[in-house]
Amino acid sequence: MPRSTKFTPLAMFFHWAVFLLITYNILQHPELEDFPPALAADTMTVHMGVGLSILILMIARLYWRMTHPAPDLPDDMPRWQQRTAHFVQWGLYLAIFAMVFLGIAAAAFAPYEASAFGIVPLSWMAPANEHIHEIIVELHEAVNKIILLLFLIHVLAAGYHAIAKKDGVLRSMLPW
Ligand code: HEM
Ligand code: HEM
Repeated sequence: MPRSTKFTPLAMFFHWAVFLLITYNILQHPELEDFPPALAADTMTVHMGVGLSILILMIARLYWRMTHPAPDLPDDMPRWQQRTAHFVQWGLYLAIFAMVFLGIAAAAFAPYEASAFGIVPLSWMAPANEHIHEIIVELHEAVNKIILLLFLIHVLAAGYHAIAKKDGVLRSMLPW
């Protein structure tokens, strides 16, 4: 059955802005083991700034989502698919918040001067400790894998709806 309802323009903005920023942070993929501290600080500053921007967008987005319900999924969509869609979407919300907070903790303990965009200092939050830093970065990396897995399921489902079902689910998140 075709769906007429769409997400609000602001919900679309949050969705696609977070998509772009997360993709940037994943692709930039900082591997700093061999970097001298000054260069590490430089490389990380955009990653951290983008990460904090994701946090601000996600807080606003969560508020918007709570006050503006998503359009209904198609009536003929099997129950298990509807449940999976909700599980994946809320899993993504949770994983992104976990990712950002682990990132902030990793930055706080980093053995280099950590700051977001060179203007929001983060090192003052905890004493530099390479051991704790490495453990938190491992967790940050583990949550990244969870995000990638949920993202893959989410995109395959969107493609299935657009190509096989042609039921308007993908269009509900597109401005046209
Ligand atoms: C959703 C947003 C984020 C994504 C997708 C992301 C992704 C990643 C990835 C893929 C790595 C590489 C991990 C590895 O292979 O070792 C990494 C490392 C790191 N990220 Fe993030 N990150 C995000 C947010 C943040 C935030 C908000 C901060 C801090 C404010 C941050 C700080 C760090 C630090 C300190 C490292 C480790 C660099 C090192 O080796 O010292 N990240 N991040
Ligand atoms: C090419 C990439 C993507 C496509 C084609 C896509 C497509 C869609 C579509 C069609 C919906 C509406 C589904 C429904 O009505 O239930 C949706 C919702 C959603 N998407 Fe994506 N998406 C993509 C990337 C992402 C990424 C990277 C994230 C998170 C990191 C994400 C998180 C969500 C969430 C949480 C919802 C639920 C609605 C909301 O709360 O805003 N999506 N997406």
